[in-house]
Amino acid sequence: MAAVVLIGAQWGDEGKGKITDFLAESADMVVRYQGGNNAGHTVVAHGREFKLHLIPSGILYPEKTCVIGNGVVVDPAVLLEELAYLTERQVETGKLLISSNAQVIMPYHRLLDGLEEEARGESKIGTTKRGIGPCYMDKAARIGIRVSDLLDPEEFEPKLRRNFQEKNILLTKVFNAKPLEFQPIYEEYLKYGEQLRPLVTDSSLAISQTLQAGQKVLFEGAQGTLLDLDHGTYPYVTSSHPIAGGACVGAGVGPTRINRVVGVAKAYTTRVGEGPFPTELLDETGEQIRAKGHEFGTTTGRARRCGWFDAVIARYAVRVSGISDFAITKLDVLTGLEHVKICVGYRAGDEVLYEFPQSQKLFRKCEPVYEELPGWSEDLSSVRRFEDLPINAQNYIKRLEQLTEVPVTLVAVGPSREQTIVRGKIFED
Ligand code: IMP
Repeated sequence: MAAVVLIGAQWGDEGKGKITDFLAESADMVVRYQGGNNAGHTVVAHGREFKLHLIPSGILYPEKTCVIGNGVVVDPAVLLEELAYLTERQVETGKLLISSNAQVIMPYHRLLDGLEEEARGESKIGTTKRGIGPCYMDKAARIGIRVSDLLDPEEFEPKLRRNFQEKNILLTKVFNAKPLEFQPIYEEYLKYGEQLRPLVTDSSLAISQTLQAGQKVLFEGAQGTLLDLDHGTYPYVTSSHPIAGGACVGAGVGPTRINRVVGVAKAYTTRVGEGPFPTELLDETGEQIRAKGHEFGTTTGRARRCGWFDAVIARYAVRVSGISDFAITKLDVLTGLEHVKICVGYRAGDEVLYEFPQSQKLFRKCEPVYEELPGWSEDLSSVRRFEDLPINAQNYIKRLEQLTEVPVTLVAVGPSREQTIVRGKIFED
């Protein structure tokens, strides 16, 4: 039995798709446990590029079972489109399972996400406008539509009617928008239900049976630690729990089943959307990292804000998720810089902080305290052994290990599966 949770240790976009794809090779099942199509993974496999939002990256291995867990919010139109996209590219999707308890993103969620953002004006969150927040709001308010409802008109109709009454008042009276029409949406979503029916199951049970059979399960987090609803930079967060504990809730698996937690972090830091970012580089180096690292969102196309690696954040991620191994991605992007910096603490007024502050007011005031290391100029893209990295790149990784007190077990030096340096086993035999 082996269960590994893979999480983002920064603000999302850490390259989790590539690491999931890499680790999926050793797993029997890959499970998404939170978020929805606000996520975006670009995975390069068999020399081809795949862009996925909702379906676990493990789908690129035909023999692996992929699961969309109960903690995910599912936009059925997007899911069906993604399935069609994969089928067109000759990717076998027959082994996908969807939790009957997953929540469904409805058209009013998408509409309200946009309208609420607009109403926030200057204090907007910078959401992906995919309806994620409003869908989780309904889940917490206990009025959400679950995937199982789409399979049962008798359950679905009254629940949807109740939602329409409330949402149309919100749309027309609060946001001055047009009301939505019940019947076409009701019929459209029943059709989605019929299309998805063969995939819908009790996914918690399926995961448990897989673990009981001695097989390996990889839990694939979306977004990242600092976007966690409780532990992130609230209110500039998403509405789910990307930290490792989220896997237990969002997949229906007990914490004693989890053997390891892999924290994925870029060799630098990026952030999309609004909110404080102490190591942000607003200069040419930031531009250089953005261009070289192709730091533009897979989901929204937005330019990502770029900055130096922040070890305070990395240590915080270790604390809240119990990270046992780091996977450092995009080390190659830092090639060519004369010096590389690591933020080791924050200066806030007269104080220097070494722990991530609870208060966002304080976090906004934090100035990075840097340590500077010599850079390297050698091309890393074909390096496959740690000892073959330039000594300054090795020292950079070793310093990250010292600062976080966690081994860096995987290092990515390019987008493809093969461009991964492996320093230890993640899944036990
Ligand atoms: P939402 O998840 O669409 O509600 O957006 C809330 C915040 O999370 C915004 O700052 C988004 O930019 C950010 N966000 C959501 N999904 C991702 C992701 O996959 N990568 C990076 N940022 C994300």
